[in-house]
Amino acid sequence: MSPAAVIVLAAGEGTRMRSRTSKVLHELGGRSMLGHVLAAADTLAPDRTLVVVGHRREQVIAHLAEIHPAAVPVVQERQGGTGHAVRTALEAAGALDGTVVVTNGDHPLITGETLRDLVGQHERDGNAVTVLTTDVPEPTGYGRILRGSDGAVTGIVEHKDATEEQRAITEINVGMYAFDGALLAGALKRLTTDNAGGEEYLTDALAILRGDGHRAGASKVADWVETLGVNDRVQLAEARRLLNDRILTRLMRAGVTVVDPATAWVDVQVRVEADATLHQNVRLHGSTVVAAGAQVGPDTTLTDTVVGEDARVLNSVAVGAEIGPEATVGPFAYLRPDARLARKAKAGAYVEIKNSEVGEGSKVPHLTYVGDATIGAGSNIGAGCVFVNYDGVAKHRTVVGDHVRVGSDNMLVAPVTIGDGSYTAAGSVIIKDVPPGAMAVARGQQRNVEGWVERKRAGTAAADAAKRARENNTQEGDK
Ligand code: UD1
Ligand code: CA
Repeated sequence: MSPAAVIVLAAGEGTRMRSRTSKVLHELGGRSMLGHVLAAADTLAPDRTLVVVGHRREQVIAHLAEIHPAAVPVVQERQGGTGHAVRTALEAAGALDGTVVVTNGDHPLITGETLRDLVGQHERDGNAVTVLTTDVPEPTGYGRILRGSDGAVTGIVEHKDATEEQRAITEINVGMYAFDGALLAGALKRLTTDNAGGEEYLTDALAILRGDGHRAGASKVADWVETLGVNDRVQLAEARRLLNDRILTRLMRAGVTVVDPATAWVDVQVRVEADATLHQNVRLHGSTVVAAGAQVGPDTTLTDTVVGEDARVLNSVAVGAEIGPEATVGPFAYLRPDARLARKAKAGAYVEIKNSEVGEGSKVPHLTYVGDATIGAGSNIGAGCVFVNYDGVAKHRTVVGDHVRVGSDNMLVAPVTIGDGSYTAAGSVIIKDVPPGAMAVARGQQRNVEGWVERKRAGTAAADAAKRARENNTQEGDK
């Protein structure tokens, strides 16, 4: 059954991050920590999601409005402990019948599957509380799980409050629980601050419920990596690496070749189809999609970009671009938002394209800026062209038809239309429309001033070379 509520605790200060940004808003794998926790919680389909906020709450509330508007922020004015935080949430929510899941906001690696197992076990066993636990190699700082001689969970003791003997226990409280909502509300009213932290500990609710004769259980996670909490930037980097490993492993099992998992970074929401290849040093961000058979990298960063089947993207950067099937990009191309390459189109070396369509099979091979343009099919843009789209005030569009040959070193001054099947001469500055099939020439006539170097630069190596060439020509003329 879906829980009555998920409560995410995110009011703490996160001092050890040493940051102007709320701890739970720090990013890994293309999402905030809070975003990861909410994504896992969402798989439970809870009736409501409450997020307890406190420190830097304006940031957290604004972030929630953006990523998860259905989640309700609950302000905890004073951080009186995890028990106080949950009590504050329940007071704001009113009576919650059914299962209430509580989770910390700083455990970004938790999966929906583990939370579903927790809730499943909790409801199957008819528990008042079920705590998620795991065995860790280094338990310092965590709450330890206390079990009776029969193995049943009897309580949780915080590290600060634990005896030497208890500190030797390696089974720890992950900081996630399933509770019976009504029983939880009652137990929270009885929490005290009579402990080393001087706070209301949520963890004490377990012993209270058990003392009342209710059932308490533990759900143990086999893979402790999932339960990793982030308190500083060292742990954040560690969590980021572990998350990335998890994503790459999933991709490789699904048929994606990842040439070097140590240097490929893929965000959680990215989709990569089977038989795509990610080469060394590839970063795929946001909503990027890479289709089957495509080759990306080495040394490529794609953000919110679609790469079509069998396309090839090498040493390039793209943001908000669409690269069609069998298209080729790079090396050293920069595709900006709404650059759209159709099937078999090409954006070659040192080419920048933004807000433009490059039609099927059309090529922009070298050293060119294309802005605000529509290029038809089968056209070729010579080396070193600029689509002059900005008059200093407004942007204008250039339209290049099908099967056009734009010569090298052209300036196409928008708004301008180059008709189907036309040519433009190298070095042209095109300011007027070119009719279909025409050859446009827009440049100064060439004038050669004969003998200028020998007259004006006498005694230089150039003048000597010119003289020899003239004499050779004369001799050859004599023969
Ligand atoms: C808590 C658990 C501990 C567990 C550990 C796992 C308690 C008493 N202890 O300890 O058993 O092993 O998590 O990481 O619960 N928060 C609030 N309001 C508060 C206090 C905390 O929202 O008044 C939030 C924090 O922002 C954080 C979470 O609750 O997201 C946990 O608080 P924290 O102080 O980090 O608890 P720990 O000492 O780590
Ligand atoms: Ca913590």
